Amino acid sequence: MKQLLVVLGVLGISASFIVLLSVKQITRQPLEVEDFAHLPRSESPAALFPSPDFSFKAQTGELVTKGSLIGQPYVANFIFTTCRTVCPLLTSKMVRLQRNLPGVPMHFVSFSVDPEHDTVEALAAYAKQWNADEKRWLLLETTTPGLAEIARGFKITAERTDGGLDAVMHSAVFVLVDQYGVVRGVYNSEETEDFKALERNVRTLVGNAPPPVAAKARSGEVLFHELSCANCHEHPELAPPLGGLSGQRRELETRLLVTADEAYVKESILAPVAKRVAGYPLMMPSYAGHLSTEELDDLVKYIAALPPPIVSPDVAVEIDPVCHMKVRVTPNALTVDAGTPKYFCSEWCKARFAENPDAYR
Ligand code: HEC
Repeated sequence: MKQLLVVLGVLGISASFIVLLSVKQITRQPLEVEDFAHLPRSESPAALFPSPDFSFKAQTGELVTKGSLIGQPYVANFIFTTCRTVCPLLTSKMVRLQRNLPGVPMHFVSFSVDPEHDTVEALAAYAKQWNADEKRWLLLETTTPGLAEIARGFKITAERTDGGLDAVMHSAVFVLVDQYGVVRGVYNSEETEDFKALERNVRTLVGNAPPPVAAKARSGEVLFHELSCANCHEHPELAPPLGGLSGQRRELETRLLVTADEAYVKESILAPVAKRVAGYPLMMPSYAGHLSTEELDDLVKYIAALPPPIVSPDVAVEIDPVCHMKVRVTPNALTVDAGTPKYFCSEWCKARFAENPDAYR
């Protein structure tokens, strides 16, 4: 018996050494954050590396630092308010996570990756648009050097682009930081399983978290807003209005004409690249793996019952002189009168044009 205990003891010590060694190796090598995102998920996530120091103002005006967040875990992501590609989906996931963890003592931190434009006011308006009642969500105004520090510290990318749809290219990961300020997990938000693991790992860190609100309680209408569909589809210059869609003919990017029936609507949600509607600057994100069968049915029913839009979707299309994307000429379209009116897909292109109109003649 004694011998058995000794053997078990030795095994135990060597196992902890192996764990320690592997953690050490992780901290020593200059790994990219994506490498962490592929680490196997455990129910009790290991310490990966310390979170970086920072000191930024939140949308409420309060100063938030690494120190002020010690004591409770937080989930961080990286977004900017004028981003039109990946951020609506990232923010919708942040909001879903908040709703799945009601009353849990923790924070949700969104670092802005656009210090030039995301002021406290812009972030406050963004928070209000998405989840106004959430007090635990901190949207942080960064500075250019401060952003470089946290990008290095969290091992993420955030780089200004030189044109196109979005002004900043950045990582789409979520990071879990524990109550001691140590990073415990990096999650690829595009992978459903990874994202579920994030929620489980938060629950492990905080102990007794109440169970999530039953998914069935969400109607098609709630989903339409929670999943950020409304954030694009209620802006006709960004995405086609969905009211009165049933049975309409649509012209696709490929010049083919299709009839919008139920199968088409489902396909648009699960595999939007399969049939892209002509004339929109944005990519619609795929929701495959993010919806249960019932949720998808509820959404499709909700869309089918939406009243037709007042503005006809058959509006003229102009070319953005900066990025050459097609832009729909609606009353809300971004435009500048430069002799003849010019139309833009984003504030970014509009600003670039304003800086030097002659370069785009
Ligand atoms: C980031 C912006 C964005 C978000 C978020 C988004 N969409 Fe879209 N959606 C688009 C764009 C742009 C198009 C047109 C281009 C295309 O077909 O990909 C589109 C096309 C569609 C179509 C086809 C419409 C037509 O006129 O033929 C449907 C249906 C649709 N989306 C439903 C949804 C639903 C439901 C959600 C939420 C679960 C959603 N979308 C979220 C941007 C978005």
